[in-house]
This record gives sequence, structure tokens and C-alpha cells, in this order.
Amino acid sequence: MTTREIQASSFGSAAATYTAVRPGYPGSAIRWGLPPDARVVLDLGAGTGKVTEALLAQGLTVHAVEPDERMLDELRRVAPAADARLGPAEAIPLPDASVDAVCVGHAFHWFGPSALAEMARVLRPGGTVALLWNLRDDATDWVARFGTLIALGAQDSTRYESPSPFAENADFTAPVRQTFAHTQRIDRAGLLALAGTRGYVLALPADRRDELLAEVAELVDTHPQLAGRDQFELPYVTEVWRAVRRNGADHA
Ligand SMILES: C[S@@+](CC[C@H](N)C(=O)[O-])C[C@H]1O[C@@H](n2cnc3c(N)ncnc32)[C@H](O)[C@@H]1O
Repeated sequence: MTTREIQASSFGSAAATYTAVRPGYPGSAIRWGLPPDARVVLDLGAGTGKVTEALLAQGLTVHAVEPDERMLDELRRVAPAADARLGPAEAIPLPDASVDAVCVGHAFHWFGPSALAEMARVLRPGGTVALLWNLRDDATDWVARFGTLIALGAQDSTRYESPSPFAENADFTAPVRQTFAHTQRIDRAGLLALAGTRGYVLALPADRRDELLAEVAELVDTHPQLAGRDQFELPYVTEVWRAVRRNGADHA
């Protein structure tokens, strides 16, 4: 397996922790990604169901597709109202033109090149694809330091100038971007656990991972914005890229 493949398949080993410490998605961000008349939607690369829960809260019928059985088990536990199915983005286990929107939370970058054609296949014309990422807002000093420690730096923070997630595509209109600020209340143990759910950190050898988590603990215990406090607000910006499924006739 390549390092990338190891990271893409590493999440299941931390599924329960993932549910507890990874941030959810604001309803405003979810709504912006959907067509106004959406009823049936797909959460693709659904993990433990963070996006699924936000979609169910909008009163939608939700299919949740995820290739890792351990993540899917956790999703079935936290979001039993969803139709949970095992499968990858490159072979979505749903019929053609069966959903009004495909939502992807923090997972599109793991998908193979054929995933876009699959997303186009399951979407009805006029349906939307909404690609979401929760980025830490590192305008706050301790948040920037935390990001540097867990080695994601630019790719996972608001300092990163995100390029469009996919180039011009005959099946979709050009993606447009919108951002939504929110915060997550978290404590010391939660922050350490959050560091431990990153794909990069999960894929490290155990001794290097322990070293890195010790550095995060030192940050929490010594940084003036954190030391001695039971809980703190971790600021996030949810970035959403939305594109519309073209009608087949538009580009025939
Ligand atoms: C960072 S997690 C995000 C999970 C969830 N969407 C969320 O927002 O919390 C990335 C997820 O992508 C899944 N994934 C990795 N490669 C995938 C692929 N080729 N097709 C579908 N999902 C994939 C992983 O199993 C993992 O559950």
C-alpha cells in the first residue's frame, strides 16, 4: 500500500474517538450545498456520520456510503435513521439519477479519479455536489501552533488558499465556494484525541506518534491561551464547494 492508501484507510482504527472529537458541520453550510427542493441525498465517504447527522437534521432522506466497515458501524450507531451502505466513491452502491445531492465531508481528497463520474451518475440533472472541509481557523495563536504540530499546516487551515477541488468537467458546472464560521467546545483530553484522529498522525509509527502527542500535551499545558483552563473554543471555518449536475442534453 502507498502512504496515501494507508492514510485513506486508517480512520476505522479510531472510529469511536472520531465521533467524540471531530467537529460537526453547521446547518447553514449544509443547506447552502443543497438544491432548495432536495429530499433524497447521499453522504459519500460518510465516516462515522458527521455529515449524515447534519443532513438528517434538515429532515432529508439520507443514504450514507462508506468503505470502512468500522466507521460504518459507528455511523449506524449514531445515525440509525440513515440508509448505511458499504462501498467506495468509485463504485457507489446506488442506482442512476437517484439522489438530489451528493455531500462529501472531508473525504473528496481521498477519492480516486473515477469518483466524479460516479457522483454524476447517481445525481439527477439539476442536483448538486457539495464538497465540505472543516478547516481550523488559525488566526488564533494556539490553533496555528496546534496545526503546525500535527503536521498538516497549510492543507488543513484557513491560511490555505484552496484551489477548486475539481477542474472543468462536462458533467458539472464550475464549483463555487462559500465559507461558514463555527466553533467546537473541547477540553485537554479531547484536543489530544483530536490530534490522534488525523490521517497523517494515525499512519505514523507508534513511537513517533507518542512523541507528537506529548508535544501537543505540552502546548495545552503551557500556552497562555490554554494553560489551566478546563475547556476552550476551537474555531473552525467550514468551506463548501458546490457544483450543479448538468442536464445530459446541455452537453450532448
Ligand atoms: C476524514 S474522514 C471524514 C468522514 C466524514 N465524512 C466526516 O466528515 O466526518 C474520511 C473518510 O473518507 C473515507 N474514504 C477514504 N477513501 C475513500 C474512498 N475511496 N471512497 C469513499 N470514502 C473513502 C474514509 O474511510 C473516511 O471515513
